[in-house]
Amino acid sequence: MDGNGRWAKRRHLPRVAGHRAGVAAVRSTVETAARIGIHAITLYAFSEENWKKRPKSEVDFLMRLLGRYLKAELPTLNNNNIRLEYIGRRRELPEDVQERMEWARESTAKNTGTVLTLALNYSARSELVDAFRSIVKAASQNGGVEHLKIDEDTIREHLYTRHLPDPDLVVRTSGEMRLSNFLLWQLAYAEIYVTPTLWPDFRGVHLLEAIAEYQKRERRYGGLNGDSHAQPRHPTHEKAVN
Ligand code: IPE
Ligand code: MG
Repeated sequence: MDGNGRWAKRRHLPRVAGHRAGVAAVRSTVETAARIGIHAITLYAFSEENWKKRPKSEVDFLMRLLGRYLKAELPTLNNNNIRLEYIGRRRELPEDVQERMEWARESTAKNTGTVLTLALNYSARSELVDAFRSIVKAASQNGGVEHLKIDEDTIREHLYTRHLPDPDLVVRTSGEMRLSNFLLWQLAYAEIYVTPTLWPDFRGVHLLEAIAEYQKRERRYGGLNGDSHAQPRHPTHEKAVN
């Protein structure tokens, strides 16, 4: 979700006005995803870098906005059968925010539709570091590291995203052509869609445009044109957009 600051600047507003305006974009996008039966949508709300490199006043604003969002949007999430999850180093967030996050997660835990995962204080490299640490810890509790066997499934099971299939499509707003430390392992075969639309202007209709573009792509997973064997090693969830 990029471009909030530029959206505000164009209107001669403070940056935080762009963040506030971004909430309507989240609501519209998430509701549309749920309505068309997307299995999972993950929003990069803020990175570890954002948190460490932005002025405290902006970070504090984002924290308050998140707390308010979780409370105000809960009915929308429940009405749309959306289950909330998180990825990122949660324990570094303010305690009251963590409590609100847990409360919102539990309040949607029974929902069976779209999984909405918020990436908060997230960094893909930190996720991999945490996964490796967790693998070694699990091994040392289970007979020692000398018997440890590691394959792709081992790593997958220790990522924050173990509840999710790999994404089919990544949408980046505001025209930036970077992954910015987002889901580096999981995006190995994802289709990338970059739109110049700034996040506060993004709506469900833009998601539909991205999906229409995605549907024109040919996914080969390293195989050849028209090759019926071209499949992901781990097929994505059957309800995912395919
Ligand atoms: C994205 O908008 C929102 C967050 C990272 C929280 P930015 O704040 O990065 O907006 P730009 O990139 O300065 O326009
Ligand atoms: Mg930005």
